[in-house]
Parts: sequence; C-alpha cells; structure tokens
Amino acid sequence: MEYTTVTDTIAAGRQLDDLAPVYEAVFAEPPYNEGARDVAEFLERYQREHKTPGFRLVLARDGGRLAGFAYGLPLASNTGWWSTFLDTDLPEALTREDGHRTFVVMELAVLADQRGRGVGRALHTALLDGVSTERVTLAVRPEAPAAAWYERLGYQLVGLTQPWDGAPVYRSMVKALR
Ligand SMILES: CC(C)(COP(=O)(O)OP(=O)(O)OC[C@H]1O[C@@H](n2cnc3c(N)ncnc32)[C@H](O)[C@@H]1OP(=O)(O)O)[C@@H](O)C(=O)NCCC(=O)NCCS
Repeated sequence: MEYTTVTDTIAAGRQLDDLAPVYEAVFAEPPYNEGARDVAEFLERYQREHKTPGFRLVLARDGGRLAGFAYGLPLASNTGWWSTFLDTDLPEALTREDGHRTFVVMELAVLADQRGRGVGRALHTALLDGVSTERVTLAVRPEAPAAAWYERLGYQLVGLTQPWDGAPVYRSMVKALR
C-alpha cells in the first residue's frame, strides 16, 4: 500500500474524481445507507473544505487503485462545531477555539475488501503526522463499528451532537495530541 499526503489546495481539488467512488461505496453500507443525494452533498462539502488553510488529505493506493482516504482540517475560531451538542453543557475551556487548537478528522474511509489490514490506522497516523494542534476531534455514528475503532485509537467521548436539524445523532470524540 502506498500512502500520499496532499496539502496543496489545487492538488487536493484534483483528487475529487478519485475520492467520490470510494466515498460512495463505503457510505452506501449500513449504518450510513447513503445515496446519490448524500454523495452530492459530500462533493459540495469537499469543494469548500479543501480550500481551508491547514487542510490535509491522505490517500492509500494499492497498485494505483484508491483503497481508502482520510482528510481533515483545523476548526476556525468562529466554528459552530461545539454548539450542536444534545446532552452536555460544554464548558468554555473545552469549546474555545483560535484556529490552531483543534484538528477535525472529517472523513476516513477504507474500501470493504481492504479493511482489517492496518490501512485505516495508517491513514489516521499519516493524517495527523505534522498537525500541530493540541487535540483532534471527530463525529462518528454510535452504531458504526468505527465508533469502537476510534476508542481503540485513544479517542474519548465528549457528548452527542446533531450537526443540523434532521441530521443523525453523532458521538463526538476527542484525543489529545500533546
Ligand atoms: C473505520 C475504518 C476506516 C477502519 O479501517 P481498517 O483499515 O479496517 O482499520 P485497521 O485495519 O487499520 O484497524 C486497526 C485496528 O483496529 C482493529 N479494528 C478493526 N475494526 C475494529 C472495530 N470494528 N472495532 C474495534 N477495533 C477494530 C483492528 O483489529 C486493528 O487492530 P490492531 O492494529 O491492534 O491489529 C473502516 O472500517 C471503514 O472505512 N469503515 C466505514 C467508514 C467509516 O465508518 N468511517 C469512519 C466514520 S467517519
């Protein structure tokens, strides 16, 4: 498996045609059951996100074929990330952002036939390699096997969050980086 990290905005934009079919295949699986509209929303979101300063994308290729990818970016100082929690009144000391405090793992996906061989772990390691924030966060569906997987990587539960009206409920998790 060959791993490539992309931080250049133009290069990251060019990867979208490769990312889309992997995203589509992985998130068509339960519990996500995503369809064409969700894939379109992913494409739209990625078009915005990859232009954010500090954006990082890691690709895992197996003989040229994309087997998985991970990407993320730092939270902006005016982020709404911490404002959609359902079950916790989060202290300001936790939610304070300055643009350099927290990196978000936005997506991490490995094709089903490539799982269980360390590809996800390697993508996660490469994604955070060189990130200088004090912590990393993410949101994961509680019913997804990935929730236990992230716990094994050292993430801890912050609370449950619903990022927009009608969205699924996600488990928000944090891991200290230093
Ligand atoms: C989550 C995902 C990225 C993991 O990728 P992967 O390549 O299978 O993971 P790895 O092979 O690197 O697993 C690393 C470790 O986790 C363990 N593991 C694998 N699945 C696990 C699970 N469901 N629960 C707990 N641990 C698990 C492996 O045994 C391995 O342990 P080891 O390093 O001690 O041997 C992959 O399952 C996936 O793409 N899932 C669907 C998409 C998704 O849910 N993404 C995250 C939401 S944003």
